[in-house]
Amino acid sequence: MFMIHAHVTSWFLALILFFVTYMLYKKNAGKKSKIFHMILRVLYLAILATGGHMLAGYLTDPGIVNNGPIIIKGVLGLVMIGLMEIILVQRKRGEGRLMNWVFFWVSLVLVLFYGYIVLG
Ligand code: HEM
Repeated sequence: MFMIHAHVTSWFLALILFFVTYMLYKKNAGKKSKIFHMILRVLYLAILATGGHMLAGYLTDPGIVNNGPIIIKGVLGLVMIGLMEIILVQRKRGEGRLMNWVFFWVSLVLVLFYGYIVLG
């Protein structure tokens, strides 16, 4: 129970920080954006630690026959972290790629769908 709350809190905060950092890079707020980006990276670790811990628990539980959905959920979570990082680094360099945002929103919808509806 603690892990799931820590997990949801960390990805929720990460999403907010992601958008704030994105805006800061867009405004060329040099040092400020760097600090927010660093806090966001710490949150990635919190997401990975809590998600990874729960995932390990599920994978070693002999009572769970079908591990597919939880593995897909984990992979989608990894993809989300990767996309947030790619989008920010590209924004920092002054590049912007529409496709990354398409992937970002599709992955977000899918990860929420898997987290809340498939896994319940
Ligand atoms: C930004 C990235 C992520 C988002 C938005 C996200 C979202 C979610 C959501 C919505 C849930 C369901 C919460 C609930 O039932 O109250 C969840 C649970 C879970 N997530 Fe993530 N997650 C992310 C990253 C990850 C990563 C990287 C992993 C694995 C390495 C992971 C593994 C898990 C596991 C194992 C559960 C438990 C499912 C259950 O008990 O029903 N997540 N996540």
